[in-house]
Amino acid sequence: MGPFSATPSSVGLLFIITISAATLLSLLPLASSIPFIVLHGIGDECKSGKVSHFTQMVANLSGSPGFCLEVGNGYWDSWFVPMKKQAEMVCNNVKTIDELSNGYNIVGLSQGNLVSRAVIEFCEDGPPVMNYISLAGPHAGIASVPMCGNGTWCEVADELIKAGIYTDFVQDHLAPSGYLKLPDDMSAYLSKSKFLPQLNNEHPEARNPTFKQRFSSLKNLVLIMFEEDEVIVPKETAWFGFYPDGEFSPVLPVQQTRLYQEDWIGLKQMNEEGRVQFVKVSGGHLGISDSDLKQYVIPHLLPAAAH
Ligand SMILES: *[C@@H]1O[C@H](CO)[C@@H](O)[C@H](O)[C@H]1NC(C)=O
Ligand SMILES: *[C@@H]1O[C@H](CO)[C@@H](O)[C@H](O)[C@H]1NC(C)=O
Repeated sequence: MGPFSATPSSVGLLFIITISAATLLSLLPLASSIPFIVLHGIGDECKSGKVSHFTQMVANLSGSPGFCLEVGNGYWDSWFVPMKKQAEMVCNNVKTIDELSNGYNIVGLSQGNLVSRAVIEFCEDGPPVMNYISLAGPHAGIASVPMCGNGTWCEVADELIKAGIYTDFVQDHLAPSGYLKLPDDMSAYLSKSKFLPQLNNEHPEARNPTFKQRFSSLKNLVLIMFEEDEVIVPKETAWFGFYPDGEFSPVLPVQQTRLYQEDWIGLKQMNEEGRVQFVKVSGGHLGISDSDLKQYVIPHLLPAAAH
């Protein structure tokens, strides 16, 4: 072989080395940072200004790749596709996204938190969720009460109640009916609600150990409550606090609920192992300040949080 025949292969080798180095460099940050997804709330969509700004900001501040994952068509589906179906759509979706296959983090906004948690608990063979940050999630349900106030959700909840929230029709067609929990109608709630009682493992005869095991596999769970939240009632539902059965007051702190004490979903275990943060921030529903975002959300999404 003459020197001229060696040239092309040297160039080729050089080319391969260059490509490999570039590939490696581009993979290095990915190897140490976990991607995140954002799941938005009701009557919202990924392309809305607020949600896309929020997602972009979280990506910028954390330096981790992330995106808002749309549920169906967004705005209307968040209202009219039942919660379990919404979670199923996300479950099917995350399985097809290569970037998420080694695990991912979730940032949930309001109702999107129940979709998130349903994905964590119900999704068969989905990629693992590592850190989960919940902003204003109605985790223990919402209750419409005479003193509910005049927020949008109070009006919606009131309409649902009039239509009969625990009827099959409403359960199958209005997403929030899946987590409307009326403390004075517990038997109807337990027997007819098609979503939250399963998600929270409330059925005494059917507590699902797999749901619990999956939820309690999270590395970190951050539950953020907004002090002036008037959209979800009670606001403490963001921490799994709720009214006692049969009563509309007082709100039981999470540690006094049976869900926690009997550890239906593993929250107590995670908390005792130091994996839960109960965070209260000022502001109305989802009105997180930049400084609170930096303090409570971003640290769990940094590449270092991967370990
Ligand atoms: C995120 O960073 C990009 C690129 O630096 C910038 O153009 C954009 O305005 C930032 N967005 C937010 C919401 O911080
Ligand atoms: C709604 O609530 C606010 C604050 O509680 C109150 O100032 C306002 O008058 C109420 N509006 C209506 C229509 O009841």
